[in-house]
Amino acid sequence: MTSPSEIASNLLICNTPIVSHNISVLRDKNTSPEMFRAAVRRISQVLINRAFENIPLKKTNVETPLMPAETEVIDQKAEFIIAPILRAGLIFSEVAMDILPLAKVHHIGLYRDEETLKPVSYYNNLPKNFVSPSDVYVYVFDPMLATGGSAVAAVQLFTTLGVPEENITFVSLISAPEGVSRLSKSFGRINILTGSLDSHLNDIGYILPGLGDAGDRTFNTHRPAGA
Ligand code: PRP
Ligand code: URA
Repeated sequence: MTSPSEIASNLLICNTPIVSHNISVLRDKNTSPEMFRAAVRRISQVLINRAFENIPLKKTNVETPLMPAETEVIDQKAEFIIAPILRAGLIFSEVAMDILPLAKVHHIGLYRDEETLKPVSYYNNLPKNFVSPSDVYVYVFDPMLATGGSAVAAVQLFTTLGVPEENITFVSLISAPEGVSRLSKSFGRINILTGSLDSHLNDIGYILPGLGDAGDRTFNTHRPAGA
């Protein structure tokens, strides 16, 4: 794991061998949608387990078949929210739900306007308020952190409701320095976790070297120019 503090002190690059190998599969333009989704699932497992390291625990006692044991379980006081940004964050949420079944899932519908590169919101089913915002832990999932517009819009939904930045983790497969910098400048205390920090954005806002359009490659919706 590396933490390039010159870009953002709250960035962690989780480039384990499983992550690096599978990101290489994702980058390959010849990878089929089926293999693409399988690689995303494998990377998500690593990143999500890393993201969940901030889950609060409390001590409890159980009886093993042999003797009483003091153990730790997830603190029931905490509320967990899995927040995939549609469309491409969906695979992450499936993996995260398996690992943390007691979490709530709130989908965030955002797409990036191709001309302006600004995020356009089309859906969210967040509550109007949280009873105890400081006990809420949020995990926002989106494979690509490019300009950072979508990420900032998604995180803001939760900070507006009073969730402390420290309790919010943004998880991506691949990030551009521009997006990390923008997200970190907007929210200096959230956790930013990514599988790879790439070189830069091209002039139409795509990450280089990147993997192309994550949503289209996941859902097999790539359209030839003009179609
Ligand atoms: C992609 C990606 C992010 C966004 C990142 O989504 O999944 O949500 O772009 O770009 P940004 O950092 O510049 O905001 P897209 O808009 O293509 O929507 P889709 O997942 O529905 O295809
Ligand atoms: N969205 C994507 O899917 N890919 C990029 O490189 C940038 C934004």
